[in-house]
Amino acid sequence: MAVDILIGLQWGDEGKGKIVDVLAPTYDIVARFQGGPNAGHTLEFEGTKHVLHQIPSGIFHPHIQNIIGNGVVLDPIVFRTEMQKLQDRGVDASQNLFISKKASLILPSHKVLDRVSEEALGTGKIGSTLKGIGPTYQDKIGRVGLRIGDILADDFQDRYTRLVDRHRKTVEFYGQTLDLGDQEQIFFEAVEYLRTLKLVDSEYMINDALNSGKRVLAEGAQGSLLDVDFGTYPFVTSSTTLVAGACTGLGVAPRHIGEVYGIFKAYCTRVGSGPFPTELLDEVGDQIRKAGNEFGSTTGRPRRCGWVDLPSLKYSIMLNGVTQLNMMKADVLTEFDTIKVCTHYKLASGEVTDQLPHSFDTETVEPIYEELLGWKVDLNQIDTVEALPEAFNNYMTFLEQHLEVPITIASVGPDRKSTLRREKASV
Ligand code: GDP
Ligand code: IMO
Ligand code: MG
Repeated sequence: MAVDILIGLQWGDEGKGKIVDVLAPTYDIVARFQGGPNAGHTLEFEGTKHVLHQIPSGIFHPHIQNIIGNGVVLDPIVFRTEMQKLQDRGVDASQNLFISKKASLILPSHKVLDRVSEEALGTGKIGSTLKGIGPTYQDKIGRVGLRIGDILADDFQDRYTRLVDRHRKTVEFYGQTLDLGDQEQIFFEAVEYLRTLKLVDSEYMINDALNSGKRVLAEGAQGSLLDVDFGTYPFVTSSTTLVAGACTGLGVAPRHIGEVYGIFKAYCTRVGSGPFPTELLDEVGDQIRKAGNEFGSTTGRPRRCGWVDLPSLKYSIMLNGVTQLNMMKADVLTEFDTIKVCTHYKLASGEVTDQLPHSFDTETVEPIYEELLGWKVDLNQIDTVEALPEAFNNYMTFLEQHLEVPITIASVGPDRKSTLRREKASV
């Protein structure tokens, strides 16, 4: 069987957690392949809301095996809290959760490094979630990092101390001192807990599952425009958020890739710094933020809001080989008489293009919009595609024609149930 992959096409928070939870019942395995506690994936069902950070969004289905793959950076402290929260809801994840021995460990000192590095950047700061993501991936690529498998070694404490000593010197380089307070003790307690769980060679587990005809869904974190190579660098995260990241982050060969679900909001948001061509700094942006409750699931920060941006969606679709689109949160736009869609950018030279410039720093980009009629109907109350208003269908058709990929799911509310599957797409 093939691995299907769900990828965010914008700057994250598209609604990945919700759709993975919705799609999960038809899969045997759900696996995270990159990122870490910078992610906040929200699931809502049966009147409760749950935010997952490192645990895959298939965890509420006991028959599904959930894997934290080798490409993930895992914070044991955050992880333990997540497991406890699940336990409080009556979910015992210890039986259907598997963690790759090759996943990287986030230490308390990585979080300090994240903070001092951001402080040193001053006004040029990335707006990191301060979860230690960048420093942990730096250590991985620098070949000095610790991995989950290391916690099983007799000399784990020595390996830990050696790495923290390196971090101490780096923090001193920034003119600060490394003070970890009680975090080390909490970290070691959390590591002790991790040792009791299923630590596996997940690349074998996944490939064996594929060979025996099982279905695997890979759950992306962040979004394509935060990808370390193709995103709005340097205002990106430190991992490969694209489909390619699922190959290296799970140990799956490219020929095993099946469907690629590309997920996007009917508008656009971004948290943290960096370019955002269609950003609305006026009351329209405020209205979207309010209607969409656009505040970060991980940090609580207000999300920047703007109209949907087709050049960047086309770019993400191209980079990921998207086969199906999932459009989220259209219900948020209900109040608007008209809705704008950015179809092209106008560059400073006057050139009109639908391609992203090499750098948004050196190139001024003015979005060119088409204005479509709003639907003015509360989509949240609609439970069949046949009942969708014409103006909303026209909006989807317009996007499909530009993006050349069918929208197979339209999400019209945060709950599992507010999910409409479309068989008849216009492309
Ligand atoms: P993720 O990081 O991609 O999983 O997305 P987040 O969970 O960070 O952010 C998406 C937010 O939108 C969450 O609060 C979801 O509960 C909510 N949400 C998801 N789909 C819809 C939808 O169709 N309509 C509305 N109104 N909210 C949604
Ligand atoms: P999910 O999976 C939205 C953003 C941060 C910052 C930049 C770098 O919930 O969609 P990092 O902590 O990774 O070094 O921060 O990336 N960022 C996200 N924005 N959703 C996320 O995850 C994000 N993860 C990181 O705000 O701008
Ligand atoms: Mg999120």
